[in-house]
Amino acid sequence: MSLKRNILDLRKRKEKVLQGGGEKAIQKQVAMGKLTARERITSIVDEDSFHEYDMFVEHEARDFGMEKKQLHGDGVIIGTGTIYGQPVCLFAQDFTVAGGSLGLMHARKITKIMDHALKMRVPLIGINDSGGARIQEGVNSLAGYGEIFFRNTLASGVIPQLSVILGPCAGGAVYSPALTDFVFVVENISKMFITGPEVIKTVLGEEISMEELGGAKVHSEITGNAHFYAQNELECFEQIKKLLTYIPWHNEKKARPFPPKPPKAEYKIEEIVPHDPTQPYDIRNVIRAISDDSDFFEVMEGFARNIVIGFGRMNGETIGFVANQPLVLAGVLDCDSSDKAARFIRYCDAFNIPIVTLEDMPGYLPGVDQEHAGVIRHGAKILYAYSEATVPKITVIVRKAYGGGYIAMNSRHMKADFMFAWPTAEIAVMGPEGAANIIFRKEIMGAEDPDAMRKEKVAEYKEKFANPYVAAAKGYIDTVIEPEETRKMLLHSLEVSMNKVDRRPSKKHGIPPF
Ligand code: HXC
Repeated sequence: MSLKRNILDLRKRKEKVLQGGGEKAIQKQVAMGKLTARERITSIVDEDSFHEYDMFVEHEARDFGMEKKQLHGDGVIIGTGTIYGQPVCLFAQDFTVAGGSLGLMHARKITKIMDHALKMRVPLIGINDSGGARIQEGVNSLAGYGEIFFRNTLASGVIPQLSVILGPCAGGAVYSPALTDFVFVVENISKMFITGPEVIKTVLGEEISMEELGGAKVHSEITGNAHFYAQNELECFEQIKKLLTYIPWHNEKKARPFPPKPPKAEYKIEEIVPHDPTQPYDIRNVIRAISDDSDFFEVMEGFARNIVIGFGRMNGETIGFVANQPLVLAGVLDCDSSDKAARFIRYCDAFNIPIVTLEDMPGYLPGVDQEHAGVIRHGAKILYAYSEATVPKITVIVRKAYGGGYIAMNSRHMKADFMFAWPTAEIAVMGPEGAANIIFRKEIMGAEDPDAMRKEKVAEYKEKFANPYVAAAKGYIDTVIEPEETRKMLLHSLEVSMNKVDRRPSKKHGIPPF
């Protein structure tokens, strides 16, 4: 064959693969409000930057009539591209080809691009849209998943791994996203579950829709499996690109610096926190009052809203913010908020992102529900994560720092590098009301007017302990600062911490309270 004919042959072959599962299957995909796998990839990466590999891969299944089926690319697209000029590895399951189901060769393509991402130290973006293990391929499909899970674990903490759920993600398939750093979901499109509605109906006799079982809202607000929620695919892709501006490309790099900017004038730090300590306020406004350009990119916005986590910048460098949210449950720590914060702290630590903690919370949430849900085990995660983290760690106590929460929220004792408190800080074993009721019980009960006596004793306790000066007198707090000084103090302490060295005892790994 002449070169020209060879080229024409190649083009024809490519053309065939690009048809995916065919016109009918593509129409069905479009009717569901979904983009095709290739459209998704090209919407995420820089224009004309995507390079596809393994497009001529064929499945090798020989059972249940599979030998007669040609599945283009075996239902998954892999390749490399750039985002903001930086290289990334991607895979996208193509639901139009056998429901994006995962067989042996499909899995081999995914593991090939995962190996590549890890070797080249570039982020991996996986777009999941699949009916799960390809039933006709039996154990080969399960083996494929196992190989993916192993690589997810190997790459964890080395390169960023982002999972985008843009269709069904069923059965064991959910465990690859669960092992990655950030999971993105889209309203009406994303569905994640271990056992689907059919199985639930058969085993339990209960009827439930896919949406109610594992839709985007469920995973953003109830289960905590998703980190970012979007109304549509294009919004989701913008979130992915935005996230990649905050995080480093791998664990031996720092995130790309941006030009420093002051916070916006509309966020007046001294006006955000109400004078009355029982009044709620939105802690995110305190973050916006101190971050560059008042920017705050929140992670897991809808889940465990009593704690706030996310990225911002100070002096142009990425910062991980962790802050109690007095607007929700007075900002208490509980099972979910501990899980949420602990994982984020570990992420920041793994990827060299300094952590700024803003504290205002009345301790761990009391109650049988929490105790039985394992608040001891879950609550321990945040202690472990802060203690283990060796990136710069700075805490500002804004208002309440009671009990175990005082210790947990990156206290001096968890080895915070800098501890600042506002004059409004109340640092004590518990809230003044509870404390007075316990230690002055006899005086209150024996008084002619117990209510008046209680008030007096509460005031006495407050005066003595519910302020920052007892902690400052012991050096647990480095200095008490005016709210206005917060950004200046943080910028300086971040600058001082730039070359921080914190070596720990050598070990294979710790045993965190997973
Ligand atoms: C083989 C599959 C498939 C699968 C879908 N297809 N899932 N083929 N193995 N797992 C095929 C269908 O036969 C169909 O082929 C095409 O994909 C489109 O599927 P539809 O059912 O027509 O699409 P839709 O109505 O949108 O329903 C999507 C769905 C449904 C809800 C995902 O397909 C479904 O329930 N699939 C099975 C899900 C499941 O139980 N998977 C196994 C999980 S167990 P044709 O040729 O007709 O177009 C698992 C174990 C992994 O994953 C363990 C790892 C540790």
